[in-house]
Amino acid sequence: MSIRRLPSELVNRIAAGEVVERPASAVKELVENALDAGASTVAVRLSAGGLDLIEVTDDGCGMSPSEMALSLERHATSKLPDDRIEDVASFGFRGEALPSIASVARLTLESRVAGADGWRLAIDHGVPDGEGPASLPPGTRVRVEGLFDKVPARRKFLRSPRAEYAACLDAVRRLAMARSDVAFSLDHDGRKVLSVQPSDTPTRVAALLDRELERHGLGVDCVRDGLRLVGVVSLPTFNRGMADHQYLFVNNRPVKDRLLVGALRAAYRDLLARDRHPVAALFVEVPGDEVDINVHPAKTEVRFRDPAAVRGLIVGGLRAALDEAGHRSVAREQFAQPAAWQVEPVAPVAALSSFFDSPASSSAAVMDRPAAYAAPMGRAEAAEPVADAAPRYPLGVARGQVAATYIVAEAEDGLVIVDQHAAHERLVLERMRRASQGGTVARQALLIPEVVELDEPDCDRLEAAIPELAELGLEMERFGPAAMLVRETPAPLGRTDVKALLSDLAAELAELGTALSLRDRLDHVAATIACHGSVRAGRTLSVAEMNALLREMEVTPHSGQCNHGRPTWVKLAHADIEKLFGRR
Ligand SMILES: Nc1ncnc2c1ncn2[C@@H]1O[C@H](COP(=O)(O)OP(=O)(O)OP(=O)(O)O)[C@@H](O)[C@H]1O
Ligand SMILES: [Mg+2]
Repeated sequence: MSIRRLPSELVNRIAAGEVVERPASAVKELVENALDAGASTVAVRLSAGGLDLIEVTDDGCGMSPSEMALSLERHATSKLPDDRIEDVASFGFRGEALPSIASVARLTLESRVAGADGWRLAIDHGVPDGEGPASLPPGTRVRVEGLFDKVPARRKFLRSPRAEYAACLDAVRRLAMARSDVAFSLDHDGRKVLSVQPSDTPTRVAALLDRELERHGLGVDCVRDGLRLVGVVSLPTFNRGMADHQYLFVNNRPVKDRLLVGALRAAYRDLLARDRHPVAALFVEVPGDEVDINVHPAKTEVRFRDPAAVRGLIVGGLRAALDEAGHRSVAREQFAQPAAWQVEPVAPVAALSSFFDSPASSSAAVMDRPAAYAAPMGRAEAAEPVADAAPRYPLGVARGQVAATYIVAEAEDGLVIVDQHAAHERLVLERMRRASQGGTVARQALLIPEVVELDEPDCDRLEAAIPELAELGLEMERFGPAAMLVRETPAPLGRTDVKALLSDLAAELAELGTALSLRDRLDHVAATIACHGSVRAGRTLSVAEMNALLREMEVTPHSGQCNHGRPTWVKLAHADIEKLFGRR
């Protein structure tokens, strides 16, 4: 066996395998270089998803001809002047991006330092391919052509130009969000697909993700244990079917981290259904020694010294912001033209003024499931005259029930329809929350204690949570290896299926793990319990019961949406009714 040193060209190509996986990774490296060079404008041009051409032009500091030559050498960097890799504030620091890219493509580097002449330097798959004067404004332009053309092994793993383009767009978006102070543009096959001017971060995020975020987003800004979280997240009712618009930045570096997915899920837990996802751009600032950015060749992953603290910061920070915004609701797509179904947030009476300030207070919305019923099931009872009562109640006076599911009420300004199950589930949760904040939730003793058989690990989890659950009014003890004995259940629940409740709770506890604070865990668990205590759809309610529900909704925070983020009620204003009948 003879050991030999590999030629530098081969070393670069091996590195390229890690650094430049696909066109999007080259785009990312080149744009990061432009930002590190102090650019205030970055222009990206692509052909065929970056497979034919990637060109990045910046107006940064530029390079002299000798710096250009050096920049293409492996491990040559200007970004670690004192070898302190712990304190890196730039995007780059490894000194391998340019030589790696140049080893698997034709690369042309043009650069000019202000006050000097421009220079051009070309490299073809690691081999110098001419140089000479170039004319360009101060800054740098890098062209990468025919990426992986001569590396069939890698070319094979590339996807269609469309898919590669999508990945490039995502890379540019992430960096444009990280640096809202810089102007960015992206052209693909001659078409301008993105163009943003310097702005503040929320505006930039909205411009890149969804303009609607400006109306339906929530600003977050909090500090905890020396960590800071700022960013924008969507209100629960403004959600997506895919978790694709969720971005995390650590010390302004875009990173991909599973932690974000879990933390968002936990924060929106009782506000969104499992298959719906919020939009989020979150910027975490941590001291340099709390995070290691040198764990991945492409620098897209980081390692936190204390991941639980970061998770706690995100969950706690978002939760607080969402609670505060509880009275706001959101627009959904138009349901029936020309009528506009309104979902208006019901503010707790004390918070009416902020309700009227809310920019989202007049949003159009829909009912989720337009029902088609075989037989009419509506019923109405004589009730108090509306004229006296209605003006006092934002949600109006109950007039009847439809399909044993929806309450129809008359308000001063229109017709209100309430989804009784969704609304009640929310009320039970908020009742439990209030009760557990002021001490413990009232309990009711079971006539005969109930033995519930479960898996041993489930019993272990429940047993470990006995003190927490007792705070929520659930009193139980371990009963042998694979059973629990339940003595008391939370009073707000009424009669409930104890076995189903316990197995849901065990599943919930398994998923939450131990990362969350006791308070946050309690909250999640309360949501699970609340779901077991609500008035089911299909139950006939008396007018008195309906009115009681409406009155409680009016004074309960978050009552405008159920625990899964759907609206609990919609309103058809008088003006809209008139439009429906062609009177206006
Ligand atoms: N657009 C640019 N403007 C000015 N200088 C640049 C530009 N691109 C690269 N350079 C110079 O070339 C050097 C090498 O760039 P390269 O991307 O290969 O390494 P790096 O950015 O230092 O580290 P990394 O490999 O982590 O990206 C940089 O350190 C920088 O000095
Ligand atoms: Mg770099």
